Amino acid sequence: TYEKVWLAASMVLIVGFIATITYGAVGPGVSMISDDGGSIDPSEINDDERFEETGVTHVGGNEYEVAVLAQAWSYSPDEIEVPAGSEVTFYVTSPDVTHSFSVVGTNVNTMVVPGQVSEMTVEFDEPGEYGILCNEYCGEYHHTMEGTLSVV
Ligand code: CUA
Repeated sequence: TYEKVWLAASMVLIVGFIATITYGAVGPGVSMISDDGGSIDPSEINDDERFEETGVTHVGGNEYEVAVLAQAWSYSPDEIEVPAGSEVTFYVTSPDVTHSFSVVGTNVNTMVVPGQVSEMTVEFDEPGEYGILCNEYCGEYHHTMEGTLSVV
């Protein structure tokens, strides 16, 4: 019957979508490993041990963790440096309004919602300089919200 044909056609479409998304997750010198969220009360950001001190932490081997606070209108820290060949897990949260954390030229582009921790792990194979931008309109000085990621 025709129903089976339509069913088959929609399966092909779904598989196609998944393939597209998978392809999109593989960028130049950058690979997406995970993208999970955690939840915290915005008023308790300072009690969350990951954000007591923002910045880069070497957790062993080639693994690094970077805690970033996105708030109107800057990132803390606004300069991040990691070695080439590292696997970097970003934890980003906001104490005020919704921002984004976007590393230009990579697949790191996440919304940063107050009360949620955006988490993503990325491998940086090659040395390079990347701009960090806020893509989410967050007020008068939204356009000044930027930073730098150096892979050295
Ligand atoms: Cu923060 Cu736009």
